[in-house]
Amino acid sequence: MSELLRIENLSAGYGEAVVLHDVAFALGEGQTLALLGRNGTGKTTLINTLAGATRQHGGTISLGGQALHKLAPHQRAAAGIGWVPQERNIFKSLTVHENLTAVERPGRPGGTSNPWNPQRVYEMFPRLAERKTNLGTQLSGGEQQMLAVGRALVLNPKLLLLDEPLEGLAPIIVEELLRAIRRITQDEGLAAIIVEQHPQAILAISDHAVVLDHGTIVHTDSAAALRSQPQVLERLLGVAR
Ligand SMILES: Nc1ncnc2c1ncn2[C@@H]1O[C@H](COP(=O)(O)OP(=O)(O)OP(=O)(O)O)[C@@H](O)[C@H]1O
Ligand SMILES: [Mg+2]
Repeated sequence: MSELLRIENLSAGYGEAVVLHDVAFALGEGQTLALLGRNGTGKTTLINTLAGATRQHGGTISLGGQALHKLAPHQRAAAGIGWVPQERNIFKSLTVHENLTAVERPGRPGGTSNPWNPQRVYEMFPRLAERKTNLGTQLSGGEQQMLAVGRALVLNPKLLLLDEPLEGLAPIIVEELLRAIRRITQDEGLAAIIVEQHPQAILAISDHAVVLDHGTIVHTDSAAALRSQPQVLERLLGVAR
């Protein structure tokens, strides 16, 4: 398995404030990483730093051998970062279909054999197909999250960043999104970093796990190993399951 992402000595924050300290890890092609940690430990800051939306103070980020850390956010999207931010940020004044076509990029040469396009997004999320002509303002929270995921997919990224994709959603929608995420990552082999505070559901569909505390990595393991250690989860996250 070849390496997709490598982060070294990464420090970043907002203005003069440094939130992330000396973060380092690597991720292989097609692998899924669960990024865990309590409230305010730096998970979003790390995701946003990969997407280019914070102030980076030091370190390097490389994706498929390309240095990302000097690139602007739109250049990182072109380089293969598909970002689903915690606040979802869909275009509220555009329709569902326009949200997808506004950012759609054809599949990259040598990329997945079956590129993502709006049609494939609608097949995965039939609720969005029904809402094609609805404006972003008319969508429920779950539909907005599905659209945010779809919008990242039609960029045909190399790495998908999902920041608390299940947060605040009804259990039935959580199930639907988990099925979709499993299909995207496990069946289609797209590499992903998934942020979660409630780890069990995400650990079950991830290969690796990283836990942050105070902006540094305090634990790294396989997702299966961490999942089977309730006492470690309790100590690191305050939850046993
Ligand atoms: N825009 C900002 N300006 C200054 N400080 C910020 C900003 N956003 C976050 N922080 C600080 O950075 C630290 C990490 O926040 P971050 O949002 O990355 O945590 P998180 O792990 O994603 O938390 P949550 O689980 O609540 O989403 C916190 O101390 C927070 O107060
Ligand atoms: Mg966050």
